[in-house]
Amino acid sequence: MIPSNVTLVDVGPRDGLQNEKQAVAAAHKIELVHQLQAAGLRNIEVTSFVSPKWVPQMGDNAEVMAGIRRAPGVRYSVLTPNMKGLEAALAADRALWPDEIVVFGAASEAFSHRNINCSIEESIERFRPVVEVAHREGIKVRSAISCALGCPYQGEVTPDEVERVVVMMKGIGVDHCGVADTIGVGTPRRVQAAMERALKHYPLAEVSGHFHDTYGQALANIYACLELGIATFDASIAGLGGCPYAKGATGNVATEDVVFMLNGLGIETGIDIDALVDAGKTISDVLGRPPVSRAAKALLAKR
Ligand code: HMG
Ligand code: MG
Repeated sequence: MIPSNVTLVDVGPRDGLQNEKQAVAAAHKIELVHQLQAAGLRNIEVTSFVSPKWVPQMGDNAEVMAGIRRAPGVRYSVLTPNMKGLEAALAADRALWPDEIVVFGAASEAFSHRNINCSIEESIERFRPVVEVAHREGIKVRSAISCALGCPYQGEVTPDEVERVVVMMKGIGVDHCGVADTIGVGTPRRVQAAMERALKHYPLAEVSGHFHDTYGQALANIYACLELGIATFDASIAGLGGCPYAKGATGNVATEDVVFMLNGLGIETGIDIDALVDAGKTISDVLGRPPVSRAAKALLAKR
């Protein structure tokens, strides 16, 4: 039985805009968050507290967090790779804190080094105090396990390699397990094999998929996860996204496309697709190009 309700986490403001060559003003990022919550998104990944030398696009993290008009029932998350990131996220007034943080590791050693400049084991040791402090402050911790279906540097990544990191994340108390196909090379049965490893250690409600659509497989991969009962997915408005440290990685699956598919399956998301298309159009206009989302393009053409 596929789920009757799905939770979507829009990672566009973070994953989407971290990868833009052009500078995007904080005001546009804030407006994007406002439009996403108005469209019914209840989980929004807003920004990341990473080194501005590594990812200058997220250097306005505190300004963006401070500028958001919080809507009731919306969970705002941010990426924190280490204690320095968590401390920066918690340096503001409590009202401006994230509701959830994301620690991001990788199933491949090579990618771990390229993305966060340390080995997988070192990354877990960096995350350990981050998880402890977040929990002490009542903040939920999600993980992202990058390159779970393939790595731009290592090549193939096996389910065993994924499970190894799942177990490590669980061991330090991470609440939720996000399995990420950073470069979009996964196909449905392989995705199921990776997800099954996460499901050995986390309950259904605490496993999610994060699919970049580089090879056009993301919707099929989400459907494959639905078949396993998984009901939480990351998606990115207008199909924005990519990782500056994963060569060739293009955008995440577009939120509009996922909502169109889920609507067709009769699965509730609480999201209004027309308002979502508006949000995608606004940020795409800021970036000066059409949305990557096929559903958004089709719906816009009918207006
Ligand atoms: P490092 O150089 O090993 O860190 O970087 P360090 O502890 O040696 O510190 C070096 C300098 O960075 C110091 O400053 C620190 O203060 C500063 P300096 O003394 O040279 O002036 N620093 C920081 N500044 C701000 N915030 C921080 C922070 N930490 C240290 N949190 C680090 C390690 C993790 C910081 C670095 O590698 C980094 O920032 N990487 C960013 C990687 C990134 O953001 N990638 C994109 C997001 S992940 C992604 O997109 C994948 C995902 O979508 C899932 C998927 O698709 O796979 C989630
Ligand atoms: Mg990503």
